[in-house]
Amino acid sequence: HDQLRRSAEQTLERDPLSRLIIISNRVSAPTDSKSGAQGGLAVALSAALREYKGLWFGWSGEVTEKFSGHINFQRNHGVTTATVDLEEQDLEEYYNGYANRTLWPLFHYRIDLAEYERDFAGGYQRVNDRFADTVRPLIEADDIVWIQDYHMFPLGSALRKRGCRNRIGFFLHIPWPPRRLLAVLPEAAELVGHLFDYNVIGFHTDEWLESFCDYAVDELGAAREGDTLTLGDRTLEVMANPIGIDTTEFVEASRSPTARLAYRRMRDSAVGRDLIVGVDRLDYSKGLEERFLGYERFLQEHPEERKEVFLLQIAPPSRGGVESYQKIRTTLEGLSGRINGAYADVDWVPIRYVNQGYPRDQLAGIYRAARIGLVTPLRDGMNLVAKEYVAAQDPEDPGVLILSRFAGAAAQLGEGAVLVNPYSAEEISDAIVVALKMPRDERIARWRAMMANVEAQDVRWWRKRFTDVLIGSGEAAETLPSS
Ligand code: F6P
Repeated sequence: HDQLRRSAEQTLERDPLSRLIIISNRVSAPTDSKSGAQGGLAVALSAALREYKGLWFGWSGEVTEKFSGHINFQRNHGVTTATVDLEEQDLEEYYNGYANRTLWPLFHYRIDLAEYERDFAGGYQRVNDRFADTVRPLIEADDIVWIQDYHMFPLGSALRKRGCRNRIGFFLHIPWPPRRLLAVLPEAAELVGHLFDYNVIGFHTDEWLESFCDYAVDELGAAREGDTLTLGDRTLEVMANPIGIDTTEFVEASRSPTARLAYRRMRDSAVGRDLIVGVDRLDYSKGLEERFLGYERFLQEHPEERKEVFLLQIAPPSRGGVESYQKIRTTLEGLSGRINGAYADVDWVPIRYVNQGYPRDQLAGIYRAARIGLVTPLRDGMNLVAKEYVAAQDPEDPGVLILSRFAGAAAQLGEGAVLVNPYSAEEISDAIVVALKMPRDERIARWRAMMANVEAQDVRWWRKRFTDVLIGSGEAAETLPSS
């Protein structure tokens, strides 16, 4: 743990950068955590931007009749945001289409759900070109540009075509699929080819990084030397850099009056029963159906535990314009109803299934009240809920994290969490029993191991590590053609 901490401190000692331009599909104006329900990535990016000058550019989330490129600037809690509206057709082809009907399922290993439409691919490129046209004039000579996630794979390339010679980095927040899975995508070679216009690409784990390199080397013929890939005259650095949470703020949040109130409310309503908590966007990749089945198996096999526990599943609806998301919602409604119908009693309901999001402080209190954090995605780039659950625990009496082997977070928290195969109802059921019976000493030891990581490799560490490599890649940027 000391070693972890020392290396984190060394990373943070280095010099700050000049101006940072973050570009992502969704721009979430920072809130004062008490009132807003920001996602993990949004919190991480606001924290990064609050430390430096610069701005955060992306889609406003709004739709307009005709795309105008008009930029709406706002300043909130020390962060400047610049957003543009998109057209209805953009929303359908880019966000609901290529991003969330094609790339998202494929990159989460669900080729059965992925749809391949040329209109989607065309709309995706069009929107990326629109973003490039709009943001290009905002970028000054010394700025560092950092593009986030699968909505914007070709944006770096589009900026280069518009003469942008700045250092441009890209970070992928979702898994990178194995080479032969990606080969299913009609535009795979073109898409990966675009990525060589970045100076640096970051992934959360070595596994995603290695899959990317496999594709670049075996399918495109790139040459690899360590973490440097070369394709023709373009050179790209790749790095595994796991994102963290703003741990200090989250620990503070877990001690706030709002958190204490939420904690009390949960404990009172639990009337002595153990709370198992899950918090996920309502997404098929999160393994919610499999989780409910695992919990059902536990109830079946352990009648003695039935009224001793309950599962609180918080699942705010997401991407409702995409059919697979409508389907998973219907499935979960049926499943939770069936399990509750079969097992509930007049004074106990086994699953509290809630379709709304909660602000961070309140969540922190709920996590702290939970004996088990159940985080079982079928595939996940990282999963910050796992880290937030750990950060919110009482050091003297912490809960147990049950974590999917297939979440990026397992590479960092595997030592302390109870790892499961999320497809196996039996493993989920067994893990719940192990967690409920785990003695306090073991819970403390496991929690300490996880917390050491969550503290050392927090969001500042992640941001600094990436931007240091990006700044160091300056020479490569100089050699790039200007158009
Ligand atoms: O972490 C992956 C991610 O797609 C982010 O890029 C995104 O902001 C978040 O999940 C929520 O998804 P959406 O923006 O589609 O609601």
